Amino acid sequence: MSGVTGHARALSAAAAVALMAWTGAAAGAAGAAPAAAPAVAPLKIGIIGAGHIGGTLASLWVKAGHEVLVSSRHPGQLEGLARSLGPGARAGTPREAALFGNVVLISVPYGALPQIGRDLKAELSGKIVLDTGNPYPQRDGDMAVQARRQGTGVSSAEFLPGVRLVRAFNAINSGDLASQAHRSGERIAIPLAGDDSQALEVAQRLVRDAGFEPVVVGPLARAREFDVGTAVYTRLMTAAQLRQALGLNALELQMVTLGLTISGSSSVPARTKIRCGRASESLNRCVPQAGQKRRCDTLPLSAIRQ
Ligand SMILES: NC(=O)c1ccc[n+]([C@@H]2O[C@H](COP(=O)([O-])OP(=O)(O)OC[C@H]3O[C@@H](n4cnc5c(N)ncnc54)[C@H](OP(=O)(O)O)[C@@H]3O)[C@@H](O)[C@H]2O)c1
Repeated sequence: MSGVTGHARALSAAAAVALMAWTGAAAGAAGAAPAAAPAVAPLKIGIIGAGHIGGTLASLWVKAGHEVLVSSRHPGQLEGLARSLGPGARAGTPREAALFGNVVLISVPYGALPQIGRDLKAELSGKIVLDTGNPYPQRDGDMAVQARRQGTGVSSAEFLPGVRLVRAFNAINSGDLASQAHRSGERIAIPLAGDDSQALEVAQRLVRDAGFEPVVVGPLARAREFDVGTAVYTRLMTAAQLRQALGLNALELQMVTLGLTISGSSSVPARTKIRCGRASESLNRCVPQAGQKRRCDTLPLSAIRQ
């Protein structure tokens, strides 16, 4: 077996093993519940920042059958929105949203993230958090300069310690979020980045339920590839166009979807090449080093059955 086709076959086998391990673990965690039940049960979503993006997503997710708690520092002002969304929605404070959600969307001016991370640390701890925020120095101050420099995946993780963070819905305008949802034909892609494979699974489901196509770009360190100012930011691409623009190939996609690049490194370069060894034993992750021979790390399958 040689070449890309051979590698793809070997990777598919490894991917299947890893997927079986993951779904098996999920079913075990769910006790006697049928294996399919967690995938279809509605989610409880707490929304911190129910403005242009948060309010639109609240509406899309309620229509998809989820329960949402939209929040404001002045919750009375959201009663009308909650009523208009129907029985699947209610209004509350950011703290109530953090407690309510098994998934929490944070969609606030980026400068508010450090305070939310401090004030709601206990409530958000261990939760899957989708972060849409984009740093703008003119709005958010010096912290936005630093966030732009190091990339939002890295900086948001610093501001929101202890959460299972996914960068999501930051690279689409709110108007397009409303008008392009569930469009006919090929759906618009939403890039995602995260270090937690289960959180990425949930984020992908919520992207689909909102009427878009998820594209997992990689770990949080790669969120910078769809930050403000990148070639793909707010460009309304299909999944195939987005993958091409980001240089994601089919092997990488399967790897990142399974969280494989995540296990070994939090700073995998965009052009990481992945090559399969014997699928039953290991996968080799080969990282080209600038001006040096490439470095290959062997990743035992046990490392990905986490
Ligand atoms: N608009 C877009 O097209 C777009 C696209 C992609 C990404 N983004 C990013 O996504 C984030 C949200 O954007 P948006 O346009 O939806 O903003 P927005 O319409 O201004 O809404 C932001 C919400 O955040 C809440 N908020 C502000 N400070 C807060 C704090 N300290 N604690 C809790 N809640 C707070 C506000 O609610 P209360 O004042 O009622 O508490 C407000 O409803 C921003 O970082 C933005 O850069 C926006």
